[in-house]
Amino acid sequence: MSQLLALQNCSFAYGSGDFRLEGVTLDVGPGRMCGIVGPNGSGKSTLLRIMAGIAHPAEGSVCVRGKQLRRYDRRELARVVAFLPQSPSPSFDLTVREVVGLGRYPYQSGLGLLGSRDEAVIDRTLVETECERLAGRLFSTLSGGERQRVLVAGVLAQEPELLLLDEPSASLDIHHKSHVFDLLRSLTGRGIAVVVVTHDLNMAAEFCDELFLLSNGRVARTGQPEEVMTDVLLSDVYGARLRVIEHPLSGSPMVHVMGKRSDEDRE
Ligand SMILES: Nc1ncnc2c1ncn2[C@@H]1O[C@H](COP(=O)(O)OP(=O)(O)OP(=O)(O)O)[C@@H](O)[C@H]1O
Ligand SMILES: [Mg+2]
Repeated sequence: MSQLLALQNCSFAYGSGDFRLEGVTLDVGPGRMCGIVGPNGSGKSTLLRIMAGIAHPAEGSVCVRGKQLRRYDRRELARVVAFLPQSPSPSFDLTVREVVGLGRYPYQSGLGLLGSRDEAVIDRTLVETECERLAGRLFSTLSGGERQRVLVAGVLAQEPELLLLDEPSASLDIHHKSHVFDLLRSLTGRGIAVVVVTHDLNMAAEFCDELFLLSNGRVARTGQPEEVMTDVLLSDVYGARLRVIEHPLSGSPMVHVMGKRSDEDRE
């Protein structure tokens, strides 16, 4: 299968030199849903920025559809890859519909006018993300979770082939979290590839085909959720006492934090 995204032996360091992402090799095929997981500071956002062409590796190569990422111009790349950062800059004084409309910029003419096809895509993504009720509101007046859903709508409106999202469900309630993961999963049916950074290991296990587990700037393991989510590996990487069990309904791996109560129960 030809890869949509391929990273080969990528290394990256910030100017301060305190953190290094080292020797990352991985690929993402069309229609795949991949989760990047790992502790705080392990390099997940840095890796996603490299995939988006925002951070440039000092060594190694990043290819999208077989072409080096740095050889794309911005608009051309934006028609293929959409990126939702962990802390997007606020869009002051724009309505929700206008914020979602920003996702159409790679398709706009020099005048920046939206055509009927753009409007139709905006309508569709507002509905898909359950944001249509918010369409006329000022973005700056929304709650944290509402903003997050609107920003997801914005990257969907970009109609990319590869969607990169950094913790898109961090502020969402359980309904909207499952809705966003369901929606992302449904995109893969259209051949769109999704890479999602998340701290929710159980959601990642349930929805992703493959996980990339990062630890201190290195890929500790890649594979199907059941290959990556093991007691020993997760406990070691997270420095916590964790047990992985099989979900009784779905059969997916499910991580459980071993607290004091669990110890008492076992005695
Ligand atoms: N602009 C920067 N300049 C210097 N160091 C940075 C910069 N951005 C991130 N870092 C450092 O690089 C390391 C990896 O950061 P990154 O944001 O990729 O982690 P993360 O895995 O996404 O963490 P989190 O789960 O907290 O979002 C951290 O130690 C962080 O302090
Ligand atoms: Mg991060």
